Amino acid sequence: MLILGIETSCDETAASVIRGNAPHSERILSNIILSQTAEHLPYGGVVPEIAARAHLDYLPQVIENALQTANITLDDLEAIAVTGGPGLIGGVLVGVMAAKSIAMIKQIPFLAVNHLEGHALTPRLTDDVQFPYLLLLASGGHCQFLEVLGVGNFRFLGSTIDDAAGEAIDKVAKMLGYDYPGGPIVEKLAMMGDPNRFPLPLPLKGRPGCDLSFSGLKTAARQVIEAHSPLCEKDIADIAASFQRTIVKSLCEKARNAIHLTESKITHFVVAGGVAANQLLRHHLTEVCKQNGLTLLAPPLKLCTDNAAMIAWAGFEHLRLGHQDSLDFAPRPRWPLAERNSQQTGMQI
Ligand code: KG4
Ligand code: ZN
Repeated sequence: MLILGIETSCDETAASVIRGNAPHSERILSNIILSQTAEHLPYGGVVPEIAARAHLDYLPQVIENALQTANITLDDLEAIAVTGGPGLIGGVLVGVMAAKSIAMIKQIPFLAVNHLEGHALTPRLTDDVQFPYLLLLASGGHCQFLEVLGVGNFRFLGSTIDDAAGEAIDKVAKMLGYDYPGGPIVEKLAMMGDPNRFPLPLPLKGRPGCDLSFSGLKTAARQVIEAHSPLCEKDIADIAASFQRTIVKSLCEKARNAIHLTESKITHFVVAGGVAANQLLRHHLTEVCKQNGLTLLAPPLKLCTDNAAMIAWAGFEHLRLGHQDSLDFAPRPRWPLAERNSQQTGMQI
């Protein structure tokens, strides 16, 4: 089954063709990602209106490229899946309208995919991992632990109570003078730094449950930066190393708690989202998993950050269960995968 996926929820215009029922190593026929980093650079962050306009400009050629790379035409498609939310509404609208048009003209099923579910199901695209599994979803906008019980079936375990990990990393990178996305550069700087020079407080240390918090850590990093400015190269590397280590430590401490909070019989711990590209995090989570008799699964780097192959795959997972969406689907700027239950704080993710 040939499915076109479209992703336009943030600052990447992406399209991908997958063959859903092929063996996992042969599923992705194309995975085109056009980053808008240059457009947003002068503004120091993603500007929603610029993103929406850029998606409008780029999407047709990105789709064309995805079809050509897969060596197919629109006529060969058997379904179309698009990010329906959560995300920047202007961009989501552009993708959804394009997908609806193709679905209508070609008379093929239309699937509106939750972007977070795209990340969450990626290890099934790449490795056929079986349900249930534990998921840490850590990206620029989201940071949460979920028990993945099935397609569209998630149990909430905990999430950040303020900033997402990626968001905190991006903000500290900015304080250090680096552009978005901060993750890759902080990781690179940290390799040359001393993580012991600036001890930073471990967020929610020793607290039960697996909620996370990164806002206080970000403030602590700001105080160190201000106290030592102007920073030399070594200062920057040492701050990046201390900050990265503290984030990783916190995610690992809460991952241990999350493992103990799962109710189903899990064998795999999956880390997904852009922050899952971080090698130090992968290394330490591997240790946590070993200690708990679990296998860590992290998608390949290109499939950790935003892409359309994961959207096409999530669409395929729904389609083979007989689901599809109506062309009346309205894009959803907020679309939680699972809600906190009433014994928790009652907050939405
Ligand atoms: O999933 P994603 O591509 O987009 C969102 O949906 O947010 O995640 C982007 C986030 C950014 O905050 C970026 O700085 C972070 O992932 N990131 C990393 C790394 N690569 C990307 N964080 C830590 N280490 C990395 N190597
Ligand atoms: Zn994402």
